[in-house]
Amino acid sequence: MGQGNLKTLVGYEVKEEITMNQTEEAKLNTPELAKTNTPEQKEKARKHIRLNYAKIAQGTTQTGCCATGCGCSEPQGDITDVSRQLGYQDTDLEAIPDGANMGLGCGNPFAIANLQQGDVVLDLGSGGGFDCFLASRQVGEEGHVIGVDMTPEMVSKARLNAEKSGNTNVEFRLGEIENLPVADESVNVIISNCVVNMSMDKQRVFKEAYRVLKKGGKFAISDIVATAELPAELKEDLRGLSGCYAGAEYVGVIEQMLQTAGFTKVSLTPKDNSKEILQSWQPGTQIENYVASYYIEAVK
Ligand SMILES: C[S@@+](CC[C@H](N)C(=O)[O-])C[C@H]1O[C@@H](n2cnc3c(N)ncnc32)[C@H](O)[C@@H]1O
Repeated sequence: MGQGNLKTLVGYEVKEEITMNQTEEAKLNTPELAKTNTPEQKEKARKHIRLNYAKIAQGTTQTGCCATGCGCSEPQGDITDVSRQLGYQDTDLEAIPDGANMGLGCGNPFAIANLQQGDVVLDLGSGGGFDCFLASRQVGEEGHVIGVDMTPEMVSKARLNAEKSGNTNVEFRLGEIENLPVADESVNVIISNCVVNMSMDKQRVFKEAYRVLKKGGKFAISDIVATAELPAELKEDLRGLSGCYAGAEYVGVIEQMLQTAGFTKVSLTPKDNSKEILQSWQPGTQIENYVASYYIEAVK
């Protein structure tokens, strides 16, 4: 029987290890448990997300591909092609450590981030560190990049990548984007690629983002947003949450939440090739008719 390891987080520390068999994992995917209203349901959903991304980090997805991770379809496309479609240049892809890019994004936040030498950058849901390593080149030795991710296996992978490549201006912290392990007013630019859609408390994510940004700091992320009501069978499948579409929120709601958090100059722009990107994620489901890849920008 297939086993999946999941480490639970208490605060920011790994306290215990849970081993799940396939039956237990299957239970996490039932429509009933895909509801995310109560604290218990939310915690189960977070477990599912962590387990899913732990497997992707370790390259042990049971189907042999990362069909339930953002940006992945079955059979998994060539990661370089996927990244080009998202807007990355070949020179970007050649410059980062092997294994950091797992094709998990839904756009390219650097198209809007406008990073400067010396900037302190925070990446929400940094995965294997792909965008952190690209940011580290742009901010230079004077700058600093912090990646935060709640999946211990992703953080380990990113740290190993940093160590192997001798990258000294980037660090990875274990934590949740709803409870950022980052000091107040310490960051110039926040980037993120296909993560906030998964949060079950997006208002809190935006509030935390506002807290850690310096005055005048920029929020510049790429994410999936809702454009129409998802059919129940897609919405009520926990795999859709870790797959970056079931938790997507409407454009107007995100705009409102960012303003409520205190941000100004809020702007949401669809990516030109959004449909093309999404068509390859879950062929046959037509999720491109219900969600879209957007750039989301705001200023503190
Ligand atoms: C789709 S992947 C994107 C990874 C990375 N941004 C990239 O483009 O390669 C989503 C990542 O976000 C992390 N994640 C999801 N929800 C999170 C949360 N609430 N707090 C922190 N990390 C989260 C997952 O562990 C996973 O590594």
